[in-house]
This record gives sequence, structure tokens and C-alpha cells, in this order.
Amino acid sequence: EKGVYPYYMLKEIDEQPNVMRKLSAKYLDENGAPLFDKKLLEAMKQADRLYIIGAGTSYHAGLVGKNLFEKLVNVPTEVHVASEFAYNQPIISDNPFFIFLSQSGETADSREVLVNVNQKDFPSLTITNVENSTLSREATFTLLLEAGPEISVASTKAYTAQIAVEAILAKGLGEFKEIEVAKNFDIKQQLGLVATGMQSIVDEKATIDDLSKKYFVDAEKSFYIGRGTDYFVSLEASLKLKEISYIQAEGFASGELKHGTIALIEDGTPVIGIITQANTASLTRSNLQETMSRGAKKITIVSDDLARNDDDIIIPTVDELLAPLLSVIPAQLLAYYTSLNKGLDVDKPRNLAKSVTVE
Ligand code: M6R
Repeated sequence: EKGVYPYYMLKEIDEQPNVMRKLSAKYLDENGAPLFDKKLLEAMKQADRLYIIGAGTSYHAGLVGKNLFEKLVNVPTEVHVASEFAYNQPIISDNPFFIFLSQSGETADSREVLVNVNQKDFPSLTITNVENSTLSREATFTLLLEAGPEISVASTKAYTAQIAVEAILAKGLGEFKEIEVAKNFDIKQQLGLVATGMQSIVDEKATIDDLSKKYFVDAEKSFYIGRGTDYFVSLEASLKLKEISYIQAEGFASGELKHGTIALIEDGTPVIGIITQANTASLTRSNLQETMSRGAKKITIVSDDLARNDDDIIIPTVDELLAPLLSVIPAQLLAYYTSLNKGLDVDKPRNLAKSVTVE
């Protein structure tokens, strides 16, 4: 039930701090050690390469997962859009392990890939919000997102839950493989910081509502830019805005803009820069500057430790690997308020269904 909330989406955004705490309690013991089935860890340890498969928001959560697995487990990781992988497979390594990300566990594009993976007897894990869903039943292993039902078509808490589960799994597998970075990664403490950080952002919703009214309600197009994981979040942030506000929004790697897309910038076009990675902060800032000198209205979402006086949305600093869990929240709220302020049906955008069960 959505209770006092006008739309499920806002309720689901607000639930995220709690989902983080639930996942921490479910998958970590009191000392912060991950609790996973040994068989899952053994199977994953054999893998020479991980393949993450998903669609839409779940694909975007996979992109963030790639960094987590490569940094904490030191295993090459590929992320694929399910509908593409199904009919145009890359060369698969000798010992692959497949991870399916799906809120519903019913997405037809992902199911098609899993059928093929099973025919080849490759081991697999489904990370899903729905127990006994098709993708869960048909994979070798399952981990649940524990996010509670997600009703709004626009996925929010499933995205952050998927990233959190990937992070805990990467920590667990990395430790199992005795990788030093994983041993030193205090996931329990970090998820605690993430939960408090999320709470502080959702408590400041009104600021985002103001930004939405000022720059987005009347906009025809907009851009999210960033580098590395900030780019991955840009893709998710722009999907959210497109899906429910019907404003053309593109997520771009900020270094790519000048190779063509910058031609689209006009007077007043909103360009949102996501900046949470120290090694690329100044590069993204100069790319933002380039758009501003062509008339763009810049808005920044920046981690506290990298913030400057002229930044717009400052989010608490957490480990860079987990920064997407916080930088995505203002973007979810911006999409929500823009849809609301335009008088649209936030939870049921046109042309879309919650679960896409046809290929
Ligand atoms: O249930 P799934 O996670 O497999 O769904 C995948 C996509 O259809 C889904 O994430 C879609 O992109 C959302 N509506 C985005 O908000």
C-alpha cells in the first residue's frame, strides 16, 4: 500500500535506506563477514570471466557491478544487454560464470539467454527481487534483493539493491580468493554510511523539486554526463528521466560529448554532471564548462570531498566503488518531480509495462 504517498515511486525511493540495512543484516554477520553458500563461492571461484546479463535498469546495475567484481575479485567481467547477447554472442571464455540481474525475474530477453546458458551447462546466478521467479528457478543459484515489492514501472530500489548485493558478493568472493583489496573493504561500515547518506538526500527532496521546476519541466532535452561509474549512473539517471517525464535525456561519457553530441547543446539545455571519482573530477568539470560556453545550464551532483562552492547537489562521500548508490538518488527524485510537475502518471508511464515478457 502506498499510504500517505501520492505515488509508489516516491515511497520506493524513500525505502532505499532501509533496503540497504536489510541487505546488510541478511548477507553479513555481526562482524561484517559475508554469508554466502560455499557452493556459490566455489563455482564463482572457478570462473575465468564473469558475464553479467540484464535489461534496462538491471543492465545499468550490471555496469556498476563490473567495477566491483574487477576491483574486489580481480576477475574480468563483461556486461551485456540481454536482447543483444541472445542473438549476437561474443566469444565466451573457457570457464564462464553468468550473473542474471532482474528485478522481476521474468524478463523475456534475459530468459532467452539463460536457456542458452543452460543448454551449454554453464553455471549461473540470478539476483532478483522475486522468489521462485522463472530466472530464479532456472539458474543454478539465486540471491534475493529483499527490496519488497516494486510497483512503480520506474525501477528505483531494485537498482540500488542490485548494486548492494553485487558489492557484498564481490567482497565475499574476493575474500574467498584471498584478494587483499577485498579483505580491506569494510562493506558493513560502507553500507551503513550509504544508508545514512541516502536518508540525508531523501530528506532534502524539496531542493530537487525546485530544480525540476526551474530547469526541467519546460525542457525538451537534457544530458547527464560523467566518467567511469559516474557515466554508468548517467545512463540510469537519463533512462529514469526519459521513462517518466518524456524529456529526451541522454547519458554520455563526458569525454565523448565533444566528439559530436555537443552539437545538440542550445541555450538553456540542462546538463547534469555526476562527479564522485577523484581521478576524473576535474576532467568532467572541464567538459561541463565546454557545454556551458555553448549555452548549457549546468547542474552538478558531487561527492562532498570533491565539492566546490558553485556545486548544486552535494552528496555524502562513501567509498568510490559504492558512490552510485548515492549519486543515483537525486536523479531518481529529479525524474519523479519532473513527471509529477508535468502532471503525468508517475507510476504508469505511457507505452510501458512493469515487466517485459516478450522479446
Ligand atoms: O525486471 P527486470 O529487472 O528484468 O526489468 C528490466 C527492465 O525492463 C527494467 O529495469 C526497466 O528498464 C525499468 N522500467 C526501468 O526503470
